[in-house]
Amino acid sequence: MTKPRVLVTRRWPEAVEAKMAQAFDLHLNTSDQPLSQADLRDAMGQYDAVLPTVTDRLPAAVFDGSATRTRILANYGVGFAHIDTEAAKARGIAVTNTPDVLSECTADIAMTLLLMVARRAGEGERELREGRWTGWRPTHLIGTKVSGATLGIIGFGRIGQAMAQRAHFGFGMRILVQNRSPVPAEVLARYNATQVASVEALLPDCDFVSLHCPGGAANRHLINAARLDLMKPTAFLINTARGEVVDEHALAQSLWFNTIGGAGLDVFEREPAVPDALLNADNLVLLPHLGSATRETREAMGFRVLDNLTAFFDGRAPRDRVA
Ligand code: DGY
Repeated sequence: MTKPRVLVTRRWPEAVEAKMAQAFDLHLNTSDQPLSQADLRDAMGQYDAVLPTVTDRLPAAVFDGSATRTRILANYGVGFAHIDTEAAKARGIAVTNTPDVLSECTADIAMTLLLMVARRAGEGERELREGRWTGWRPTHLIGTKVSGATLGIIGFGRIGQAMAQRAHFGFGMRILVQNRSPVPAEVLARYNATQVASVEALLPDCDFVSLHCPGGAANRHLINAARLDLMKPTAFLINTARGEVVDEHALAQSLWFNTIGGAGLDVFEREPAVPDALLNADNLVLLPHLGSATRETREAMGFRVLDNLTAFFDGRAPRDRVA
């Protein structure tokens, strides 16, 4: 029996590529450069499965090619707002993602950013490396205490809950939650968390706000100038979700005019471009989209794609089908 022809759009961990190559007629993008929309459109005519990731853009136009061979887009990553799932559905193309396996590491990065910005770790490291440290003094780089503070979590899915776990049990934080659907009482009780009715109701009460909602059009600029104005002038914003959830221009204004205490960002609106106004803000910690970047998690994400593809081509329902 001929093996399905499969395209992987970026390089994956070696152990996963090796397993994938045993199961499929595997084609790698050896240059590891992001594919253009034209490349992706061509690929849809040539491969039974295309395995995209967050650096690929698949709007409706990519699905317009006359001869579509692709039957499944098995995304490497939990977020899939870069794929027009309606267009995929209209063409009868299945879409899967890789939930669960990256929740802990993404929450770890959110907590890393929270701690770094609150304790001014980025500023301190820059000072030390640049030879500007003049020694200990009682007033040096005074930060904000994390333990016992109030954390607002926007989006209480798996990653939001992993963040609550760390913040509540590790740092004794009080947890407030905003989520588009009601969170079951037993889930809230696990973290002694309270769900509030709206983003507006959450922001004024929080010392820290961490974003864990999906990206895409529905949440574009969820955090805008008006909502940043609702945050305490001492509060910190953490974004490990998707860049488009925060209006970067409005955030830069808040940071420069100190209308909030600071921010920690792992994701950006136009990655890998980051506006100078953010790069030059001292009260901001920046990471290059590292949420899931551990060996264990990146391998687990790949093996989850392998499971989804194997099920699909065996005629079973892939466990992570999202469209
Ligand atoms: C995801 O899984 O959506 C990450 O942001 C990319 O790995």
